[in-house]
Amino acid sequence: MIHISHSLSDTKKVAELFVAYLCAQPTSNTFGFSGDLGSGKTAFTKCIAELLGISEHVTSPTFVIEKRYPIDARVAGEDFPFKVLIHIDAYRLESGEELNAIGFERDLEDPSHLILVEWPERVIEALPPTTPIIRFSFVSEHIRTVEFPDMMGI
Ligand SMILES: Nc1ncnc2c1ncn2[C@@H]1O[C@H](COP(=O)(O)OP(=O)(O)OP(=O)(O)O)[C@@H](O)[C@H]1O
Ligand SMILES: [Mg+2]
Repeated sequence: MIHISHSLSDTKKVAELFVAYLCAQPTSNTFGFSGDLGSGKTAFTKCIAELLGISEHVTSPTFVIEKRYPIDARVAGEDFPFKVLIHIDAYRLESGEELNAIGFERDLEDPSHLILVEWPERVIEALPPTTPIIRFSFVSEHIRTVEFPDMMGI
């Protein structure tokens, strides 16, 4: 489904849908966030982090590639299936091999990791073939769209 966001508070509401989906049916621990520069991938990740009780300031991992944050079960809920948020920005990578070189395969194996990958097309070979891809678009200064694949049902 496509969601239209007119503000960061709308984007936060879309993030709430995503977090509720993760609680109900965590069919994957890895998600791709695809879309142009400035389309809201990092903004959406920040909203998710806030909902998971991550108090550390979440910044774009463009230069460091990967950042990890402990999820606070007191905020996310004791039933929330993941313990660590791993935020990856693959913009500067040229292949999945480069992601594996920083230990991504090991990250994937741990089911307590929730892995959100910006620019998944850059490293698609390293991602599980079933990775849901969420699409972000820039419409105008304050308007963005967020589209989940049909199989997610949100
Ligand atoms: N409705 C909205 N939803 C989300 N972000 C919005 C919205 N309106 C304006 N913005 C602004 O758009 C910008 C989106 O930037 P963001 O860093 O999230 O993009 P990105 O997709 O991660 O880009 P990049 O590919 O460079 O990492 C932010 O500055 C945010 O405040
Ligand atoms: Mg970003």
